[in-house]
Amino acid sequence: MRIAGLCHANAALTLGGMAGGVAFVPAVPGLAPGAFMSLRYISLGGTPHRRAWPGSRLTVPERIEQMRYALNLLLRYAFAVSITLVGLVRCTAGEPADAGRVSPRPARSAAERAAVVRQLREIYRADPAGWPAPSLDPGVAWQELGRLPQVVHPEENPLSAAKVALGRTLFFDARLSPSGKLACVSCHEPGLGWADGRAISEPRGSAPARNSPSILNVGFQPAFFWDGRAPTLERQAERALTNSLEMESNGPHVVGLLTESSGYRDLYERAFPGESITFAGVIKALACFERTVVGGRSRFDDFMRGEATALADAELIGLDLFRREARCMNCHHGPVLSDGLYHDLGLSFYGRSNEDRGRYDVTRDARDVGRFRTPSLRNVTRTTPLMHTGTFRLRGVLTMYNAGMVTLKQEDFERVDPLFPTKSPHLKPLGLNRQDLADLEAFLHSLEEPPAAVGRPPLPELR
Ligand code: HEC
Ligand code: HEC
Repeated sequence: MRIAGLCHANAALTLGGMAGGVAFVPAVPGLAPGAFMSLRYISLGGTPHRRAWPGSRLTVPERIEQMRYALNLLLRYAFAVSITLVGLVRCTAGEPADAGRVSPRPARSAAERAAVVRQLREIYRADPAGWPAPSLDPGVAWQELGRLPQVVHPEENPLSAAKVALGRTLFFDARLSPSGKLACVSCHEPGLGWADGRAISEPRGSAPARNSPSILNVGFQPAFFWDGRAPTLERQAERALTNSLEMESNGPHVVGLLTESSGYRDLYERAFPGESITFAGVIKALACFERTVVGGRSRFDDFMRGEATALADAELIGLDLFRREARCMNCHHGPVLSDGLYHDLGLSFYGRSNEDRGRYDVTRDARDVGRFRTPSLRNVTRTTPLMHTGTFRLRGVLTMYNAGMVTLKQEDFERVDPLFPTKSPHLKPLGLNRQDLADLEAFLHSLEEPPAAVGRPPLPELR
């Protein structure tokens, strides 16, 4: 796998190598005359010394010394030249036409920046309907950014306070897992943005281990898991409970636990009056609780409510960048900043030991290899490390987007492979400068929610 931008690393290395090769020689006392002599020596193609410096005589040790300098120089330049060649070959081989990096646009002066801010304040003061059109590729069905709507609870599992209370208690109870060690909260911790702060969550078994996503605003999602394999939150909760990578539990264990506890029997009776305890009921309660885990208290939301000063200058510039030059709205749009669709960002590690084919494992459609669900960006600054791999920090993610993301190198033997993943055509080098990236990052910080004030509920005793 190769990250676009490596060419530049190569170029830098080459220049560094050459500069080092040249600078080092005269820097070492006594080497300069030697280097000069050896250059002459090489340029004369090894003609006897006397012809290069007529009348002078070299002793044998001097001659050996001179040849050492020549060899030394030769190696230096051979090294620099070969690195240049490697760099050139790698930069051109198999590189899609649009993936060459665009040089960053010039940074704005303080005065220019102040003028832009004045202009943006005027533009973004208006109703979103009057905002400038976002930069989108043809055919993208987009929605404007905005405040979160009400979560819709499905008819089969309507909202009730008693069900939420049961669901919240279950969410925190590690006794649901046979080991007694893992609760939902172990990997979806309110204090960690409802994720777990780890790269990947306790990998066990052979399935691809992935980063634990936040469950904040999960009620707005059309499908669940990074590959969307669960169509409803109920199915998701069932899988989380029974998945060997998560809680490794089962229906009889969970129903047994609740039946044994008078506290749980009470909670359950209030949630499902007159019904006996079932695994399906447990799952409904968990899903019902999860649908109440909703954000909407960020500074961005305050701004959308009309509080013009809620966004600082950098955040406002970042909002505009996000919608236009940075092209993020092609995939992250609407109130949750996600299109709910699947895209290949080049992070599948296809053909490597840590390969994850993502959506393909659900649909078996070759176009889905390497595609993952666009995550919401609300509160994203609290759920580092990022991406399904759990291997990135925010600044790194932005730098990668600026370079057009990762382009997998298709080896010759892979050219006939129908499953070789294709990076999303929405990703292109952006040409943003450091100031722009900092502004974009500032905007993402404005989507941060105040810490969730969800206390640990008392867990019912087993009697
Ligand atoms: C060992 C850690 C772990 C535990 C315990 C755990 N989860 Fe998860 N959860 C994950 C990981 C990892 C994923 C993503 C897996 C994937 O996409 O393949 C996930 C995904 C989810 C999602 C989907 C979010 C999205 O954006 O699609 C929800 C909802 C969820 N878990 C809820 C729960 C509930 C409810 C429980 C308890 C019954 C639970 N989890 C227990 C690690 C865990
Ligand atoms: C082609 C669609 C697409 C575009 C364009 C796009 N993203 Fe993404 N974004 C995704 C997908 C899909 C993921 C998850 C990928 C994965 O984990 O493999 C993601 C993940 C992220 C994450 C990590 C979120 C997390 O919870 O781990 C951040 C941050 C992010 N994008 C920000 C941006 C920004 C900022 C832009 C504009 C510069 C942008 N994205 C443009 C589709 C896109």
